[in-house]
This record gives sequence, structure tokens and C-alpha cells, in this order.
Amino acid sequence: MTEEVWTAVDRYFEGLFAPPDAALEEALAATAAAGMPAIQVSPLLGKLLQLLAMTVQARTILELGTLGGYSSIWLARALSPGGRLITLEADLRHAEVAQANLARAGLADRVEVCVGPALETLPTLAAEEARFDLVFIDADKEQLAAYFRWARSLTRRGGLIIVDNVVRRGEVTNADSVDPRVQGVRAFHAAMAGDPGVTATALQTTGIKGYDGIAIALVTGEPLPPPEGKTAASRPGGNVVTGVGG
Ligand code: SAH
Ligand code: DHB
Ligand code: MG
Repeated sequence: MTEEVWTAVDRYFEGLFAPPDAALEEALAATAAAGMPAIQVSPLLGKLLQLLAMTVQARTILELGTLGGYSSIWLARALSPGGRLITLEADLRHAEVAQANLARAGLADRVEVCVGPALETLPTLAAEEARFDLVFIDADKEQLAAYFRWARSLTRRGGLIIVDNVVRRGEVTNADSVDPRVQGVRAFHAAMAGDPGVTATALQTTGIKGYDGIAIALVTGEPLPPPEGKTAASRPGGNVVTGVGG
């Protein structure tokens, strides 16, 4: 079986379950026009994120890794009335493109793009004692275990933690890999598997993005305390580029 077949099946399913949508198409076009990589989630994975957010009746969603806001649009559309999505992005230009895309999608009022490396902005959320119904982790892969640990301190019991790109084209089974992304993903899997406070699984996927996979954890325990020594930060405030809400 080839990527050609995977693509054809994805297109068929997209026609049925994720049909063309102006805001999403415009977001993709603007992201490409800005010279940013086309590494957003597939339409069908976007739909799955939306569906899972609806399943937990999410009012608060946290995303790590915004890019052009494509997955943010899918997730924000699932928010219950009055809900909020905070998305963390290290690259200011990506955040600005995402802000414009989210505004065009009519979602600027409920989405906040927070600029800075996630490990610097996550402590500010912890300091605010923020609690999320769903966390989607899709930033750099080297620090995935640390991101999962933060997600465990910020997700409510009964919430979901979803992680993208957890297969690395199969390299995830290579314990000797010298690729820090592979080692990051492996450290994450070990942390998630060893966490008694979640019920978790990981799935291989094929489709328009080739061969990859996602992990999903249902938080069954209480949130963990924030990682050691990371509680004192206060929110700079200057890092929010859009949709600042009360
Ligand atoms: N979730 C997006 C795709 C994200 S791509 C979508 O599906 O539409 C990964 C993004 O993570 C990139 O925009 C990259 O700039 C950002 N990123 C990389 N390292 C980061 C870090 N340390 N903190 C926050 N964002 C980071
Ligand atoms: C790539 C894909 C992703 O989904 C991502 O979040 C980061 C990078 C990639 O194909 O390089
Ligand atoms: Mg990804």
C-alpha cells in the first residue's frame, strides 16, 4: 500500500467528514503565502480534535505549537459558549499570521496567541492556576516529556491530553536513535505509560501527511503540581498578541 492510496482515502473521507471550509482554506493559503511550512494537522485530524474537544465539552483548551492557527481553528470551533483557547507559539511571525487567520475565522474573541518558548510561557499559566479541559501538544518534539508533565499539571481530571507526531516514521522504536526528536518522543511515551493518573494509548496514522501517529490520554487522576521550581513566574503580559480576554 502506498502514500497515493492513503492520500486518496484521506480525500474521500475529507469530502464526507471535513468538507471545504472558507476560513480553514484561507488560513492554509495565508500560511503558505507567508512562507511557513505546511506541517499543520490534516483536515481529518483537525476534525478529530474538534470531536474530542466536544466530547469533554471543553470550555478551556490549551495548545502548544500554533503555526498558522489551523488546528486552533478546529479546536476553537468546539468550545462551549464562553470558552477560551490559549495557544503557545515561539515564533512571533507565526503568531502574527495565526492571529490574522483566527480573526478572519471569527474566533479572535475566544483565542489568545501567547508568544514565547512554551517552557517559558507554561509557568505563567500555572501561576494563574489555569485549568484546561483539553491540551493539544504539537510544538517541538525534543521537549515532549516536559510538555506532557506541564499538561498533567494544567489539565483537569476527566480532561484530555492529545499529542501529535508520536511515531517519527517508525523511528520511535529505535532506542539508539541519535535524533533528539525521536528521543524526545520516546521519553514522552515512557512518561505517559508510567503515569498512574492517565488512561492512555497511541495510534499509528497514515494519510495526506504520510505515516505518523497520535497519542491520547484521559486524565483520571488529580492534576500534578507544577514541575519543581516553576511556580513563581508572573505573566509578562507583553507576550499576548491577540484576543486578550478578562
Ligand atoms: N498545531 C499546528 C502546527 C504546529 S507546527 C497546526 O496543526 O496547525 C509546530 C509549531 O511549534 C511551529 O509553529 C513552531 O514555531 C512552534 N514551536 C517550536 N518550538 C516551540 C517552542 N519551544 N515553544 C512554542 N512553540 C514552538
Ligand atoms: C512536522 C510535522 C508536524 O505535524 C509537526 O507538528 C512538526 C513538524 C514535520 O513534518 O516536520
Ligand atoms: Mg504536528
